[in-house]
Parts: sequence; structure tokens; C-alpha cells
Amino acid sequence: MNVTKLNQIYEGKAKKVFKTSDENLYIVEYKDDATAFNGVKKGTITGKGVINNKMSNIMFKLLEQNGIKTHFVEELSDRETLVKAVKIVPLEIIIRNVAAGSFSKRYGVEEGTILKNPTLEFSLKDDALNDPLINNSHITALNIATEQELKNISDMAYKINDVMKKFFAGIGIKLIDFKIEAGRFQNEIILADEISPDTCRFWDAETNKKLDKDRFRRDLGNVEEAYQEIFSRITNK
Ligand code: TMP
Repeated sequence: MNVTKLNQIYEGKAKKVFKTSDENLYIVEYKDDATAFNGVKKGTITGKGVINNKMSNIMFKLLEQNGIKTHFVEELSDRETLVKAVKIVPLEIIIRNVAAGSFSKRYGVEEGTILKNPTLEFSLKDDALNDPLINNSHITALNIATEQELKNISDMAYKINDVMKKFFAGIGIKLIDFKIEAGRFQNEIILADEISPDTCRFWDAETNKKLDKDRFRRDLGNVEEAYQEIFSRITNK
């Protein structure tokens, strides 16, 4: 597509977003920067930006094929993708199949405990407040999303879980949990942001080896190798 990259409008911890000559399109650029614990831990995961860009786009295409609308338009380069110019709903939408991370800590449940049903939770995307958990009535009360939008977001999140769980099971990976973000675009809620080892927990189905950002968060070593391994499995290389 013939669009020109214009000024940067946003820089997050892992990506930059640029305006383009088309007001309905943005360009996202993925960085190798990694943070954890709300920016307290900082580092670099060499090659992460390329993997997260390409992997997200593979996942967005898979989800589109399964009837989920996403912001994906076209991969422009190793690190850059053209996306629909959504307005992000400031929520972290988290689905869990297996207890891990903050869920295990909060409820005193051993990591790896299989949950009887997938869980859905929301956090308010606000670094200054440390992304606090937020419930549906808070979200509508604070005008963050309408009840109908929340229903659409929840339905989308569970459907994404069904599609991704099956896909990852097929390549020997357990999808433990993941975080997505939704955006508004032309009066619709669509999937935005990224789907990558930064935003999902992936465990090898046989060994339970962690193949995601927990290797960075917890100083487990072989961080780059884990990103590469998950990407290789996805692309069958
Ligand atoms: P948690 O167990 O730390 O709450 O994380 C749940 C999932 O959300 C996990 O797959 C990692 C992802 N996540 C993000 O994508 N961004 C974040 O800022 C956090 C805290 C978690």
C-alpha cells in the first residue's frame, strides 16, 4: 500500500506508533526494548522486535480467518506494520487457562494448576496507577467502555482463546494465559496491539519449559532462544 510514514504519535515500552498520509492508518514499529514490573526492570531482547512483529501478524491473520476483526493491514518490513488507526480502549484484557503469574500470587494457587474454566479479567491501562484490576461495573461507571462494548470485548477474548489454544496445541505448546488490547475503529471494537511472547505465556507441552517473557522477568536465561524457538515452531522452520 502506498502510504507515507509521518510523525511519531506515541512511544510505548515495546513499540512506537506513527501517523501516515492516510488518516485511517498508523504504522507500528516494534523495538527490542523489554521492561517488566511496570518499567522497574529494563533490558534488551535482541531480535525481539522482529519476532514480535512477524508473530503478531501471523496470529492476526489466523484470527481474521476465524472471524475476528483485527487492526492488521500489511507487514511493511521486519519491524514495521501498517495497521488501522484505532483508539485503544485503556484496558488490559487477560484470559487464563492455567494459573500463573499475578493470578497465582493473588489467590495463592500453585503455578501450573489447570483452571476449571478459562478466566477473564481486566486491568486499567494506567502505568501511574500500576495497572490496577478493574471490574465491569467500574469500567462502565468510569465511561471506559459501554456494556455492549464490554460484551463484544469479552466474546472476542474467549473466541481468541479457543482459536489460539487449538493452534498452539498443534505445535506442542500450552497457552497458559495472554493479554490483548482492543481498539475502536469506525464504530466497532477490533483486536489491536500485539500477540507475542511479551504478551502470552507459552509452556512446552512436554517439558513445561517457559518459552515467553517470563524468562526475562524471572532471569531464567536463554531469553532470545525462547523467542526464537516459539517463532520457529510457528513458522515450521
Ligand atoms: P500476569 O500474570 O502478570 O497478570 O500476566 C498475565 C498475562 O498478561 C501474561 O501472559 C503476561 C501478560 N502481560 C502483559 O502483556 N503485559 C503486562 O504488563 C503484564 C503485567 C502482563
